[in-house]
Parts: sequence; structure tokens; C-alpha cells
Amino acid sequence: MSIKTATLSGVATIEIARPEKKNALTAAMYQAMADALVAAKADTAVRAVLITGQPGIFTSGNDIEDFMQRPGDSGGNGGVPSVLQFMHALVDCDKPVVAAVTGAAIGIGTTMLLHCDFAFVSDEARLAMPFVGLGLLPEFASSLLLPQLMGHTRAAEKLLLGDPFTGADAVECGLATAVLPAGEVVNHARRIAERFNALPPGAVREAKRLLRAPQTDAVLKTIHTENELFAKRLRSPEAMEAFQAFFQKRKPDFSKF
Ligand code: COA
Repeated sequence: MSIKTATLSGVATIEIARPEKKNALTAAMYQAMADALVAAKADTAVRAVLITGQPGIFTSGNDIEDFMQRPGDSGGNGGVPSVLQFMHALVDCDKPVVAAVTGAAIGIGTTMLLHCDFAFVSDEARLAMPFVGLGLLPEFASSLLLPQLMGHTRAAEKLLLGDPFTGADAVECGLATAVLPAGEVVNHARRIAERFNALPPGAVREAKRLLRAPQTDAVLKTIHTENELFAKRLRSPEAMEAFQAFFQKRKPDFSKF
């Protein structure tokens, strides 16, 4: 299992731990994260959730081998794809979620930050959403939330061109809370999460709901629209060329499409 979970001092920690594959997320890992979020929501001893990675890598996004072998994976609990269960569980989590972005955050590694309440980013981290370059499409409601957050033109740089950006850029455009030295990011994020032990949990939950409520229906609708289109793109010749190029360590060639 490449997701480690533990609850300590009121904080449920979800640690992505697959460093040999740069913390790439498989269906089983999404399922484990979804289950951990659901459990954290139900556990009255949990006051906040911390999502973290490994030194130098938060996550390289969806496992590209999984994209090739199990496009549109529907093997999750109840036949719902595990990635969708993870997305729903994060959107549905009414406790504060703090991300400690310990290093590179690619694809869903960046889009999940849109659904966290705090994101502390290592000063060595690079973020990127290279969906289009992989023949894919924006996901996790990023097509809705990113333009709202930073305006269309800056969202286009990140979503159409897939340009990487720094933690400082992420703070500047409202996607992250603060940049910290690499060695301090997890401890700082944990300290922020632990502050919720001293706050009234009912008021925190209701305040978070109020902050998110105006967008929730649109977010869920967008996740589903994106997902339907994304599933088709996973089977496209453009995506196949991009995936093969990644594993062959070469630039993809889209000139024939
Ligand atoms: N899916 C599957 N395997 C992945 C992966 C992913 N998303 N990201 C990295 N890996 C694997 C590599 O294939 C490599 O495996 P190998 O040792 O068996 O050859 C190993 O992890 C190390 O990756 P590598 O690319 O050599 O590390 P790096 O430090 O040079 O680069 C990244 C790190 C994260 C910048 C780079 O791996 C990367 O761009 N990954 C893909 C990101 C991506 O496009 N994700 C999908 C978003 S939708």
C-alpha cells in the first residue's frame, strides 16, 4: 500500500508514499485516500486532515501506466472509479484539509489544492497541469475553478500550455497559502492543522460549508462533465502517443494528428 494513514493529536494524515514512482497515484491509492477522507469526516476525534507527500515529491499525478492499462477504471467500491470517489470525498470533507506540498505537484497533485483549505508549498516545488499535452483535459473542476481564481489568461497558460509554475506563483494567484523552506513545510502544515484542536469543531464545519456551498453544485457538475470527456480522451490516439512517449523518454509527436 502506497498511502500511509495515521491520526495523531486530532489530525488525520494521508501520506502519499510511492517515491520510486514519484508518488504516481494508482486506482488503489485513490481508493485508500477516499476511504481515509470518509473515515476522517466520521471520526469526532479528527479536527483536521493533512495531505502530504515525500521529500522532493508531492505527487507526479495519475499513474500513466494505469491510464494506459485501465482507462476510465471502474473497479472502485460500488463500481464508481476510485479517482471519482477521491474527488467526491475531498469535496465532501467538512473538516479543514491542509496540504503540505513537499515537492513536485503534477496534474491532480495541483488540482487537488483547489479543494484544500490551506496549501503550504516547498520552495523547491514545481506545479504543473500538463493534461492537454498528454492528449487529456482539465479535471477536478479545474476548468471551472482555475479561471475563477486567476482569470482566463493565466488559467490558459497553466491549462492549455501546461506551463509549470513555482510555489510563489501559486501563492500569488491564490492557489496556495504560503511558500516554506523544503525542510519546514510538513511541520508548518501540521501546526496549522493542529490549531483546529483549539477551535469549536461545529463552528469550523459550518463555516467551511458556508465558504464552499455557493460553488458545490457547479463543482460536482463540472467534475462529472470533465470526467466523461476525460475518459474518452484516455482512449484517443493522441493520448496513446503521449503515454508511449513518456515511457520511451522522448518528446511526443502530434504532427500526424
Ligand atoms: N506515472 C507512472 N510512472 C511515473 C509517473 C507517472 N505519473 N511519474 C514518474 N513515473 C516513474 C517514471 O516512469 C520512472 O520510472 P522508472 O524508474 O521505472 O523509469 C520513475 O517514476 C522516476 O521518474 P523520472 O521521470 O525518472 O523522475 P524525474 O525526477 O526525472 O522527473 C517528474 C519527475 C515528476 C517531473 C516526471 O516523472 C514526470 O513528469 N512525471 C509524469 C508527470 C505526468 O505527466 N503526470 C500525469 C499528469 S495527468
